[in-house]
Amino acid sequence: MLPAIVEIKPDVFFTGAFDPKIRTFDIIMKTANGSSYNSYIVRGSEGVAVMDTVKKEFSDDFFARLERLCAYDEIKYIVLHHLEPDHSGALIELMERAPNAKLIISGRAVMMLKGIVKTDIPYEIATAGKIISLGNKTIEFIMTPFLHWPDTMSSYLHEEKLLFSGDVFGSHYYDERLFDDLVGDFSYAFHYYYDHIMRPFKPFVLQALKLYEQFDIDLIAPLHGPILRSNPKNYIDKYAQWSSEARFRKNAFNTKMLSVFYISSYDNTHKMAEKITEGADSVDGIRASMYDLASLDEPNMITLLEESDAILIGSPTINGDAVKPAWDLLSCMAYLERTGKIGATFGSYGWTGEAPEMLHERLKGLKFRLPLKPLKVKLIPTEEELNACVAFGCEASEIAMGKMIEMEI
Ligand code: FEO
Repeated sequence: MLPAIVEIKPDVFFTGAFDPKIRTFDIIMKTANGSSYNSYIVRGSEGVAVMDTVKKEFSDDFFARLERLCAYDEIKYIVLHHLEPDHSGALIELMERAPNAKLIISGRAVMMLKGIVKTDIPYEIATAGKIISLGNKTIEFIMTPFLHWPDTMSSYLHEEKLLFSGDVFGSHYYDERLFDDLVGDFSYAFHYYYDHIMRPFKPFVLQALKLYEQFDIDLIAPLHGPILRSNPKNYIDKYAQWSSEARFRKNAFNTKMLSVFYISSYDNTHKMAEKITEGADSVDGIRASMYDLASLDEPNMITLLEESDAILIGSPTINGDAVKPAWDLLSCMAYLERTGKIGATFGSYGWTGEAPEMLHERLKGLKFRLPLKPLKVKLIPTEEELNACVAFGCEASEIAMGKMIEMEI
């Protein structure tokens, strides 16, 4: 059966593909509703521009739609807003079929192009404000890097007030009704996508939104999920709000937030955590809190990590390693921007005691500031060792408040 022709604006058509069965995307995202790889064409009086392609496995769907809408020799431009394989998968075949077309990518995409397509292909670089003309249709490029790869750009079709936003404003949500006012309730998928893809890049989101403000946007055509035509400003405002949310503690109480995360098998690391928290909380301007990793789920880990200025992690050593909940906590940093947070590690041990050093090294890899040596206690902490824990917490807080000279260890 021939695919339906979907015109999203006059002479702008959907050429994407649907992937209703996908259940995990990019390893880190669950996709309960499947997804779509959105691609579009713009037909002007002097040629056609193809805006992105699809994942390679879905090339047949893409070409079937494309062939209903244009001849290959009409294609003047192929624009790739983002080179990730879910959008560049049909590129090489498209360039073979449309040899007159010029490939347009961002400057930052150049370094990735060969790594993705594994061959030398000609391209032209889009810069901010560059315009391509299709006669009666004009496309202007907007540089929106790191949303969510360095290469990402957007473009604006002036005559139709249409923003091609790349992955920005996307959702993993398969629904062939396509438009936001026709599909099912995808609000959870829109937010989930932001949290997992855009949240680590909040400053870049705000930068992009500032650039989008210059344009009168009537419809947003993202690379995944519903096309946003009912009230584009509503979606833009959501991104602005999520990217600007002030940290809870700082906002409400004007304090810095220090979080002590711990996991304990015989209560010894727990006792250390209590004393560290006590010491940390004794410093003016710091609100210290303690969390047992055994009962903290991932969304809460992410929120707490994001809101904390300093993060102290305690784990016992079991079989020469820190325990899984401590590693799970640090894996949540993949969803967050790393803004020079302070980190420190501690733990009680029985024999070898590697865990605090191992966690310290991981924090170093995550670009935390690490002013304190890992604090270790053999088995049950003594009174003296517990006092050292109080001092450790106190020192971490003082450093967070800028009261001591910080040494990188
Ligand atoms: Fe949808 Fe970042 O690719």
